[in-house]
Amino acid sequence: MLRELLSSDEIARAERFIFDRDRNHFIGCRAALRRLLAERLGMAPGEIDFSYGSKGKPFVPHAAIEFNVSHSGEFALIGLSERIAIGVDIEKIREPTRNDWSDLAKRFFSEGEVKALSTLSPEDQTEGFFACWSRKEAYIKRHGLGLALPLRDFSVSVDPAHAELLGADWCPRDLRQTTLYDLHAPVGYRASMALEQTAKVQIHQRSFQI
Ligand SMILES: CC(C)(COP(=O)(O)OP(=O)(O)OC[C@H]1O[C@@H](n2cnc3c(N)ncnc32)[C@H](O)[C@@H]1OP(=O)(O)O)[C@@H](O)C(=O)NCCC(=O)NCCS
Repeated sequence: MLRELLSSDEIARAERFIFDRDRNHFIGCRAALRRLLAERLGMAPGEIDFSYGSKGKPFVPHAAIEFNVSHSGEFALIGLSERIAIGVDIEKIREPTRNDWSDLAKRFFSEGEVKALSTLSPEDQTEGFFACWSRKEAYIKRHGLGLALPLRDFSVSVDPAHAELLGADWCPRDLRQTTLYDLHAPVGYRASMALEQTAKVQIHQRSFQI
């Protein structure tokens, strides 16, 4: 059983979900994360001891592997890297409840992003909005800061076909040290990854059902 791979605090957390679907998703994803990490660290999945950063980012102390997890809709995304800080995000694309995404973009995006989104053709707006959102989330998750890092304090590209960190006044060296990537995502989803690395990296993606 997958839950046997989890620690007592993870099982307690799983028990707090109201809906079975959410509980099962969490258990399946944690078990998959434990298996992936165990494979690389040469340990049993149940032996992995997670610690958490001040804003909740999980990590394995003293391990040469960094990781990050994201959930949306029916899917989870797990990113692993060797010694390089990583953030990943997956977002299920939905249509705007009103005419377009401008209201939400004005609330969460930087001025430059709002402007760039407004220049996209109407048929690219939704894709551009979710590309931007996913890239921003991957970026803040790479830093492990959550919403303590204001979403307007940095800018990413909104072009659905091109991921790039465009501005990071709060941490200017990030323009030299952080790269954003779009990842392959299931139809109807956008997925992104941020790495504390500008050299070319090899990305291996695989999908599996839990
Ligand atoms: C908590 C946060 C890090 C991500 O939250 P989220 O988008 O709801 O969730 P995701 O599914 O992408 O990520 C959750 C996973 O990230 C990891 N995580 C938790 N805190 C984290 C942190 N501070 N930094 C990085 N990763 C973190 C965990 O592994 C978690 O999964 P788990 O609980 O199953 O272990 C935070 O960035 C947040 O609340 N974001 C929402 C921001 C928002 O409203 N954006 C609007 C549009 S731009």
